[in-house]
Amino acid sequence: MKRTILIHPDPRLKKVCAPVADLTDELRKLADDMLETMYDAPGVGLAAPQIGVLDRLIVLDCVKEEGEAPRPLIMFNPEIIASSDETNVYEEGCLSIPEQYAEVTRPKVVDVAWIDRDGNAQQETFDGLWATCVQHEIDHLNGKLFIDYLKPLKRQMITRKMQKLKREKARA
Ligand code: NI
Repeated sequence: MKRTILIHPDPRLKKVCAPVADLTDELRKLADDMLETMYDAPGVGLAAPQIGVLDRLIVLDCVKEEGEAPRPLIMFNPEIIASSDETNVYEEGCLSIPEQYAEVTRPKVVDVAWIDRDGNAQQETFDGLWATCVQHEIDHLNGKLFIDYLKPLKRQMITRKMQKLKREKARA
């Protein structure tokens, strides 16, 4: 089932999310719904707070090549356990901040630990777009958005655009 994606500014996007204690069927369903919502958007990542659920859960799939098999990842309680000193700059966007893009500098390579859909502990090294995406999504679980990396003026400009967009949507 597709869920509604919250648009910034929203207090739920600024909250620190709670770790998932028990992997219930309800949480698995939530993760599946998030993947469906993400693919439909379309986007390469989605965090639970973006649909108003304040649990530490993210989904992502950064496969971009046409014809390449999709690789949906579901991560409960994801944690960055190591980051490279080398950095990478990507033009980031966010499904909660539609049609706004800006360059963000982040570690190029990260080691991430998480619990998968079956409740198994996983660990993997991510590079390039995958590394950027997983860091962006984990930020969401700590109430942080990519625009928080920008200079205040640019951030305020984007926030004002989003407020206007929300007013227009509410009127429609
Ligand atoms: Ni985002």
